[in-house]
Order: sequence, then C-alpha cells, then structure tokens
Amino acid sequence: MNHRDHATAHDNGAIPRHVAIVMDGNGRWARKRFMPRVYGHKVGVDALVRTINSCADRGIKYLSVFAFSSENWKRPTDEVSGLMNLVLVAVSKYLAKLAGDGVRIRIVGDRSAVSDKLRSAWDEAERLTAHNSRITLSVAFNYGGRWDVVQACRRIVEEGIPAEHIDEATLSRHMAMSYAPDPDLFIRTGGEIRISNFMLWQTAYSELYFTHCLWPDFGNAELDAALAAYAQRERRFGEVVDTLPVLAVGARVGT
Ligand code: FPP
Repeated sequence: MNHRDHATAHDNGAIPRHVAIVMDGNGRWARKRFMPRVYGHKVGVDALVRTINSCADRGIKYLSVFAFSSENWKRPTDEVSGLMNLVLVAVSKYLAKLAGDGVRIRIVGDRSAVSDKLRSAWDEAERLTAHNSRITLSVAFNYGGRWDVVQACRRIVEEGIPAEHIDEATLSRHMAMSYAPDPDLFIRTGGEIRISNFMLWQTAYSELYFTHCLWPDFGNAELDAALAAYAQRERRFGEVVDTLPVLAVGARVGT
C-alpha cells in the first residue's frame, strides 16, 4: 500500500492508522520495586492488553509491539525462560478476552527457534482471532528488522523473481507484516532514543515518539500524549508541502 493512501484515508492523518511500540523499561520498573525483572514483564503484559483496547477505542487499526527481539536470547537464561513462560501464561489468560474484543492477533518473527508448545500457542491465537477486524495486533517475537529484510530477500529469490522486477513494492510485499500499512507512529517507552532493529524497512517515514515512561506505567494519559504529538506533526514524506496561505508567504518574503 502506498504510504500516502493510508495517511489521507484515515481521518486526514490526525489519528494514526498503525502504531508500533517498543515496550521498554520493564526491568527497571521491577528493580525499583525490588522485584525480579520477569515481574516487570508480567505487569508489562497487563499494560499491553490495556493499550490494545485503548488503541482500538481511538480508531487505530494496527498495533505492532516488540515483545522479544532476535538479540534478547543473550539475556540471562532465567529471564529468557521466564519470558517464554510468561507468553504461554498470557495467551491462556487473555486470548479468549482479546478474541471476544475483536482483536486479530498475528505473530511475526522466526518461529523456528521457539518451543513446540509456544509455536502451537501462537498458532491457536492466530487461528482463533483470524476473522476479527476491530484492530490487528502484531506481536514481534524472535523478530529483528534486519532479519525481516533478509527473509524477504530469501523469499524473493526462492520465488525466482528476476532482479529487474524487484523494486520497493516487491520488498514491502515480502516483509513479515505485509498485511499492514507502514506504521504512522513509532513509540518507544523507557527513555532510550533508538529504534533497536524494530521494523527498519517499514518505519522509513514514521513519526518517532520517545517517552521516559516505563512500559508497565503506560496508560491512556501516555497514549493520548503520544497521539497529540503525532497530530501536531506535518508529514511530508520527503516532499515540499506549502500549506501557508499566499498572504503569509508574502509576509515571509518581506522579512
Ligand atoms: C523491554 O524491557 C521489554 C522486553 C524485552 C519484553 C517485553 C515483553 C512483554 C511486555 C511481554 C509480551 C508478552 C506477550 C504475550 C506479547 P527491558 O527488560 O529491556 O527493561 P529495562 O530496559 O528496564 O531493562
């Protein structure tokens, strides 16, 4: 889909159609409470479920979250296994509710390295929610933006598409989240100002929003602050957009 189509099609761009979030700060949130890091992730899941509904209520059609990066395997083994276990618990705790709330769930990332148990939980979540349309939640798990570009290239080669037929649209069609428009708004909580290998291809023209709020504390006030900042931005997609009235241009020239 052309980026212009979705920016104009959705309420003149005042509400983003697609929001991507790096949910950072769970570990620090837990440490401040003298609790194990995994506890921060657990409360982070509650913040995510809250945010899915808040986004849907505001008319956002796609929410994509970074739940486990290709690099997160380097964390201590008890945190990695805690996160895997947490996902299983979260699916059994929330899947029926999310399905009933009209959420379509998609899992993106390299599934080859996760356990059979987790893989079948993902399959079940996708199957049970496939026909929902209120909002599409993409959970990036064992995902990396560079991995996504590489897997797209591999599939293009496997399909035998000749080099001269490959353009940006070909790449976009082969990215893991090709069913979604590119994110309009990219949010990162936790105070770091980095993209950290999330959706590198798709965020080329996304508006970026960084907040010190730690992910478990993310709620409606934070979401609305991010949406208000987004609504103030002038999106140009690399073009010149002269929105000033003629009189104002004259006044500007005269100064
Ligand atoms: C970053 O915080 C957060 C993560 C690596 C994991 C986020 C995962 C969840 C909220 C759970 C997702 C679960 C489902 C079911 C989708 P951090 O650990 O890097 O925090 P820190 O920067 O304070 O150390």
